[in-house]
Amino acid sequence: MTRALILGGTADASELAAALARARIDAVYSYGGRTRAPADQPLPTRIGGFGGVSGLADYIRRETITHVIDATHPFAAGMSRNAAAACAETGTPLLALERAPWTKASADHWIEIADVDAAVAALPDEPTNVFLAIGRQHIAPFAGRPQHKYTLRFVDPPAAPPPFAAEVIVSRGPFTLQDEIEMLRPRRIAVIVARNSGGDGARAKIDAARMLGLPVIMIARPSLPERRRVDSVAEVMDWLGHRTCLGA
Ligand SMILES: NC(=O)c1ccc[n+]([C@@H]2O[C@H](COP(=O)([O-])OP(=O)(O)OC[C@H]3O[C@@H](n4cnc5c(N)ncnc54)[C@H](OP(=O)(O)O)[C@@H]3O)[C@@H](O)[C@H]2O)c1
Repeated sequence: MTRALILGGTADASELAAALARARIDAVYSYGGRTRAPADQPLPTRIGGFGGVSGLADYIRRETITHVIDATHPFAAGMSRNAAAACAETGTPLLALERAPWTKASADHWIEIADVDAAVAALPDEPTNVFLAIGRQHIAPFAGRPQHKYTLRFVDPPAAPPPFAAEVIVSRGPFTLQDEIEMLRPRRIAVIVARNSGGDGARAKIDAARMLGLPVIMIARPSLPERRRVDSVAEVMDWLGHRTCLGA
C-alpha cells in the first residue's frame, strides 16, 4: 500500500497535494511551520520540524511512509539533506520535485554569485535603493552595508524590525509583472537581490528587472545530495504508479 509524505511549503507541493487527493492516494503533507497561516491542503497535514534526520526516520517508520517526495523550496537545503539521509537510513524511495532554475536571457543584467555573503559584497558602495527578495532568515548580513535603503517583502509581519533601515512590505505572492513594476518604480529600486528559485510563482520580479533595465544580484542554489529529481507533478504521479489517475 502506498503512503506518501510530501515535504512541502511551495506552490509545486500544493499542486502535487491536489493531484494526490484527486487520485485518492494515501498521503501526508508536511509544512515546516515558517508561515503563520499556511494554505489549507486537501490532505492530512502536519506542521513543524521532525527533529533532524533521526526524527524524520522515526516518523517514516511510525507512519509507515512508503514514498517521500521532497517538494520543498530549492533553498530549503537543510530539509532536503535530512530527507536524503533519513530515506537512505530507512530504505524509503525519495523523489525531489524541483523546478528548473531560471536562466539568464540576453536582455538580463545578472550578477551571479554563490551565497548571501557574496551578495552583500556585490552591492555598490554608494547609497542605493535595494529590493532584497530573499527569506527573512538571510537578511542579517546586509546590516554590514547600512548605507543602502532596503525594501523587504514578507508573507507575515516580522516579529522584530530588520537590523537596518528598511521598508517592509507584507504581502503573499504570487505577483504579476504589473504588481512588481508598481512596487519597484515608485521606490526607485536600482538593484534587486534574488535567489534563483526558478518556477513561475516568483518569476515576475525577474521579468520586471529586465523590463526596467535593473541589475539582479542572483544567488545560486545550494548544493544538495544526489537524488532522483523531476520537475512536474505528472512525473511524480508516474513514479508513484498512478499516472492514469491524473484524469488528464
Ligand atoms: N527557503 C525559502 O526561501 C522558502 C521559500 C518558500 C517556501 N519555503 C518553505 O519553508 C519551509 C522552511 O524553509 P527553510 O529554508 O527554513 O528550510 P530549511 O532551512 O531547509 O529547514 C530547516 C528545518 O525546518 C524544518 N523543515 C523545513 N521544511 C519542512 C517541512 N516541509 N516539513 C517539516 N519540517 C520542515 C526541518 O526541521 P527538523 O530538522 O526539525 O526536521 C528542517 O531541518 C520549507 O518547507 C520550504 O519548502 C522556503
